[in-house]
Amino acid sequence: MDDILILAIESSCDETAAAVVRNGREVLSNVISSQIALHTLYGGVVPEIASRKHVEKIIPVIEEALKEAETPLSAIDAIAVTYGPGLVGALLVGVNTAKTMAFALNKPLIGVHHIEGHVAANFIEHKDLEPPFACLVVSGGHTHLVEVLDYGVFNIIGHTRDDAAGEAFDKVARAIGLGYPGGPKIDKKAREGDPEAIRFPKARVNDSAYDFSFSGLKSAVLNYINHEKMAGREVNDADLAASFQKAVVDVLTEHGMAFVKEKGYKKFALAGGVASNSALRASMEDACGKRGVSFYVPSPILCTDNAAMIGCAGYYEYIKGERSGLDLNAVPNLKLGER
Ligand code: KG4
Ligand code: ZN
Repeated sequence: MDDILILAIESSCDETAAAVVRNGREVLSNVISSQIALHTLYGGVVPEIASRKHVEKIIPVIEEALKEAETPLSAIDAIAVTYGPGLVGALLVGVNTAKTMAFALNKPLIGVHHIEGHVAANFIEHKDLEPPFACLVVSGGHTHLVEVLDYGVFNIIGHTRDDAAGEAFDKVARAIGLGYPGGPKIDKKAREGDPEAIRFPKARVNDSAYDFSFSGLKSAVLNYINHEKMAGREVNDADLAASFQKAVVDVLTEHGMAFVKEKGYKKFALAGGVASNSALRASMEDACGKRGVSFYVPSPILCTDNAAMIGCAGYYEYIKGERSGLDLNAVPNLKLGER
């Protein structure tokens, strides 16, 4: 069979990214232009600034991806693009660029779900991984425990009722003055702290074994900080970061493992930006090891938003015959499993 080359574009939040992927799992280039330094000035992503930056960067990033892959545009078989979920103004830049290219070059267009992309990062990293398996997707906007039944086919088992795990990391980091993006900063700070120092509530809900709720935990952290300040005591940021992180990691691990046990899955994968968290990776690896479950996680560069994962997910949609029309639109609140 001839090689299939996918040009992929991702612009759902604050990374402008393009990649060339061969036959789904082989990354020929993966270019990411991050806007983090710019948004740090404002303490979080400013949607209007994100869109403007994507407009500036999208063409140079695509050009670089093609150059690095040593692939002329004429050799590309299809163009894959994230069309949701995400910031509408940011998504539109990628979607419009992909549509324009598909039209001008007369190539097939494939709209990809951002979370499907995060899951697919595991296929790039682990060449032997095939569905079905259990997967926990944890990012700045999502916390989903899913069954990956087939390529691009998901069954949602649990999700967050309020904040996403990454959002909780970002908000707690802001409260202790660590700045944006909070996840990596809490991860680092927590290494100097005692995870048993402060008991925070578990981020679960009473009426479901698999759903999560992080807003109560976030409030408990904020209340703790206020309480200590009122009492004239200094907060130990490292202990707080470690204790908060443990509360998040424990519930993610417990729910993940309870599900693996219930369904008898022998394969468990982590995905999304928060999958870079060192405590979460260690906890999941340990828990899976104890249960004889194979554990999969992408390397950090594939956990963060990137286009290689979109190219991989796009490939599996492509070989199933999925195509998007030139009326493809950005869908900011696209649900997993919807097309
Ligand atoms: O997947 P991603 O790059 O973007 C979304 O699709 O949301 O995830 C970004 C999120 C942010 O909330 C960031 O703070 C978090 O992932 N994150 C981490 C770590 N690295 C990134 N959270 C905890 N520990 C980390 N090491
Ligand atoms: Zn993401």
